[in-house]
Amino acid sequence: MKTLLTGGAGYIGSHVAVALVAAGHEVVCFDNLSNSRSEVIERLETITGRTIPLVVGDIRDREAVRAAIADHDVQAVIHFAGLKAVGESVSEPIKYYDNNVRGTLAMIEAMIDCDVKTLVFSSSATVYGQPQYLPLDEAHPTSATNPYGRTKLMIEEMLADIAAADPAWRIAVLRYFNPVGAHDSGLIGEDPSGIPNNLMPFISRVAAGRLPELSVFGNDYDTPDGTGVRDYVHVVDLAEGHVAALDAIAAGEAPLGIWNLGTGEGYSVLDMVASFERVNGVNVPYRIAPRRPGDVASCYASPDRARDELGWAAQRGLDAMCGSSWTFERTLAMRNAKQGSDE
Ligand SMILES: NC(=O)c1ccc[n+]([C@@H]2O[C@H](COP(=O)([O-])OP(=O)(O)OC[C@H]3O[C@@H](n4cnc5c(N)ncnc54)[C@H](O)[C@@H]3O)[C@@H](O)[C@H]2O)c1
Repeated sequence: MKTLLTGGAGYIGSHVAVALVAAGHEVVCFDNLSNSRSEVIERLETITGRTIPLVVGDIRDREAVRAAIADHDVQAVIHFAGLKAVGESVSEPIKYYDNNVRGTLAMIEAMIDCDVKTLVFSSSATVYGQPQYLPLDEAHPTSATNPYGRTKLMIEEMLADIAAADPAWRIAVLRYFNPVGAHDSGLIGEDPSGIPNNLMPFISRVAAGRLPELSVFGNDYDTPDGTGVRDYVHVVDLAEGHVAALDAIAAGEAPLGIWNLGTGEGYSVLDMVASFERVNGVNVPYRIAPRRPGDVASCYASPDRARDELGWAAQRGLDAMCGSSWTFERTLAMRNAKQGSDE
């Protein structure tokens, strides 16, 4: 199948591109490069040994998406494009509703223009809000605690209405837990601009000396060591989950399915720091800071539905997550040093 990856130059999209090519699919990336660089596509070509077309465009531009689908004869879309910084969504909500919600609507209209109705959507465990029970299964009630989460929830609801109105749709809603790690090559990974919002790139930058110390937000939660517990899932496992979901919906009868992509294991912030130090032989200095508003004590998935219905389960453990993150950080440092000496 030939698949358009909106946000395909980003962290998760780039890993999914690799997994799809490895599984025999063809991919086309569509990205406005607002949070990524076109060099990622060159690295994808190095990893896969294939030419990967990049269309530079915005999902809010219905005609640009339509042209990308039609020109490349695409049969399915995996929709990663979106803004994802929770704090920024609180201070700039309109930007998030415009980019994520309006963008998704324009993209769906473009898909309908081309009669392409197979869609995989990047949702998030954030749609579960404050957990009422653990592990979180797909039947857990949904709610939003910030505008970013609300955009994910609004899109999920929009997709449910669209699938109910037209059963020709084949939609997979994938609720990611906490994606971390990188491809073993070190060529692609999570490289946010500015101060990272997510734990793993923060840890990597502290270990590399690019940031002085890690702030651990709260050590008085009701968890074994008092720090927040999350379900970290290796991005390469997550990517393979997309291949499984795409294959399942394309072969299936249901217009819409929802699946958690997580491991079912919870690790605390201090577990992550200790593992990163042990696996990579580095130091990660940290200090305890006040809790952040909106953070929950513990959040981890029931991955049973994905196992039973998609035949997917995460294979890679904490050591691989920490090791590959560090490999990526060092590759990045070498590349930056080389670029500096070339200039
Ligand atoms: N990384 C996580 O922790 C996480 C967790 C849950 C869900 N998600 C969701 O997964 C998706 C991918 O996340 P990621 O971590 O790869 O983020 P990312 O920022 O690395 O990738 C998103 C990509 O989308 C592009 N983009 C943004 N707005 C666009 C637009 N209007 N038109 C075209 N391209 C646009 C960006 O340039 C970027 O390349 C997002 O929708 C995010 O909300 C991520």
